[in-house]
Amino acid sequence: MEEKAWLRANTLKLLGKDKVSVLDAYAGEGHVWMRVQELVPDIEIIRLAIEKRKSAAEPGAIIGDNMKVLPTLNLAELDLIDLDAFGFPTEQIRICAERAPDCPVVVTAIANHYAPTPYRVSDSVGIPEHWRNVDGEYPHMLFAKKRWVYWEHYLYTLGYRHATRIHMPDFGYTKRYEVLWSAAAWAKVTPTENQGGLSDGF
Ligand SMILES: C[S@@+](CC[C@H](N)C(=O)[O-])C[C@H]1O[C@@H](n2cnc3c(N)ncnc32)[C@H](O)[C@@H]1O
Repeated sequence: MEEKAWLRANTLKLLGKDKVSVLDAYAGEGHVWMRVQELVPDIEIIRLAIEKRKSAAEPGAIIGDNMKVLPTLNLAELDLIDLDAFGFPTEQIRICAERAPDCPVVVTAIANHYAPTPYRVSDSVGIPEHWRNVDGEYPHMLFAKKRWVYWEHYLYTLGYRHATRIHMPDFGYTKRYEVLWSAAAWAKVTPTENQGGLSDGF
């Protein structure tokens, strides 16, 4: 959790604003953003939370599926969108890229080493759908090794050109924490060494 909070706090510093509007589309109980606020006490964070589990949702959160809520919001007015997902928030990123191409998106993507790669991700590099069927002629594990390359390709097709990223290998799966920027969004921020905001691009 500390890495997640650090990445978000660092992004707010890069944005260089006193007050920011953030959409937290996988809000849970809001622990990450509570910690972010501690790390950047001088930045006023206005946060809209979406959480599908009623039992976890904070007061004031929108309770529901973010896939239904995201298309109804004016995403382009936001300073940052947070997709702190389990798995790959593939469709949610596509909506963000279409509706707010220049809004940075902070993403958690988690891949079980033995699970299939999401269809849209492998499709973006031209892998036919039937190749990746679990019971098909070509075992989907063949494509797992290059999963993150395909992922980056997918993000590129959506218009993202830079990423500030932390890769967290773990037993059986990999967690990837990253902030995605369009070329225009990245051009607006000026990373410095102290902020750690170096882009490795795609
Ligand atoms: C990794 S947790 C996020 C934790 C959160 N950042 C925090 O600080 O507590 C993912 C959360 O997203 C919620 N979730 C999963 N799919 C969702 C969806 N389609 N729409 C809204 N919430 C979703 C889960 O119920 C879970 O609470």
